Amino acid sequence: MSKKVLLSGIQPSGKPHIGNYFGMMKQLISQQNDNDVYFMIVDYHAMTSLKNSKIMKENIIAVLIDYLALGLDPKKSIVFKQSDVSEHTELAWIFDTITPMAYLERSVAYKDARDNGKDMNVGLFNYPLLMAADILLYDVDIVPVGQDQKQHIEIARDTAEKFNNTFGQTFKLPKEMIMEEVAVVPGTDGRKMSKSYGNTIPLFAEYEEIKSSVMSIVTDSSGGIPENVFAIHKLLRPEEELKKIYEEKAGKYKELKELLIEDLEKFIAPLREKRKEYEKDIDGALAILNAGGERAKAVASAKMKEVREKIGVDVY
Ligand code: ADP
Ligand code: TRP
Repeated sequence: MSKKVLLSGIQPSGKPHIGNYFGMMKQLISQQNDNDVYFMIVDYHAMTSLKNSKIMKENIIAVLIDYLALGLDPKKSIVFKQSDVSEHTELAWIFDTITPMAYLERSVAYKDARDNGKDMNVGLFNYPLLMAADILLYDVDIVPVGQDQKQHIEIARDTAEKFNNTFGQTFKLPKEMIMEEVAVVPGTDGRKMSKSYGNTIPLFAEYEEIKSSVMSIVTDSSGGIPENVFAIHKLLRPEEELKKIYEEKAGKYKELKELLIEDLEKFIAPLREKRKEYEKDIDGALAILNAGGERAKAVASAKMKEVREKIGVDVY
């Protein structure tokens, strides 16, 4: 089987949660041995909501350390930040010029942001085209993401086709990889787990934080099985085994929550410890990021050279 190229991005906009891990990060990490994997920190995307230089810096470093603690291996994979490869914003502009406004107005993320009264900057509107550039520069085959990003990958595919039809074959059409069981990891209130809903279980939570998040899970139940507790627990144990336990302990919410706390602690504690190790060498981590940026830049600039030829601006 030939090697595939996988790429995904995460915004440096706060602490990752177990939804990010099971929905996206785990998929990327597990592919490192067999495929070419790009881990991208999309700082320019985060600028659509984050305008504080100190927090931006802290968050970029935090995401980098998170990835290293999860097992990103810089000898095998490339980790980089978007702002180190200026070809991303350059290509996004070219995509701006071939995309009808009305097409982007149909974006679910844009409509959500508008309907929720968010600060509607132009960056939020053409966010999907920067994301298309992120993907298409690297001839990516597969983009592991959670369900909420499905439409963005469709936009990347449509944009590649539009460019190819207009200027000649240039871009590969990427496919999303969405794992059905973890497409939408629910949060403590039963809605999608999300930083913006304040319903998360942080991926590197301390024990007390795990405890208070689990205790806050809303216990709507059917037949004594607390559904939201079960849905999160399912990430950590085989479903059949879990069903038996929940049936035996039907109605005993406190005991079931305690078991979930125990299982989460078993899963998180080693990750937390590894993270603390990596935190001791921030300079080493930054050197890895810097080197990753150079490797990504080499690939992206070759693709941009081709794009400039195709659109006819290469007059020298
Ligand atoms: P958030 O909604 O918390 O801000 P991001 O938008 O930063 O999360 O998402 C980063 C990645 O994690 C994306 O690929 C996204 O699809 C995935 N993801 C986020 N939340 C979940 C979830 N609850 N279940 C599955 N995947 C998720
Ligand atoms: N929009 C994605 C999110 O919010 C992040 C992202 C930016 C991304 N560029 C990407 C994901 C390219 C996959 C591929 O989660």
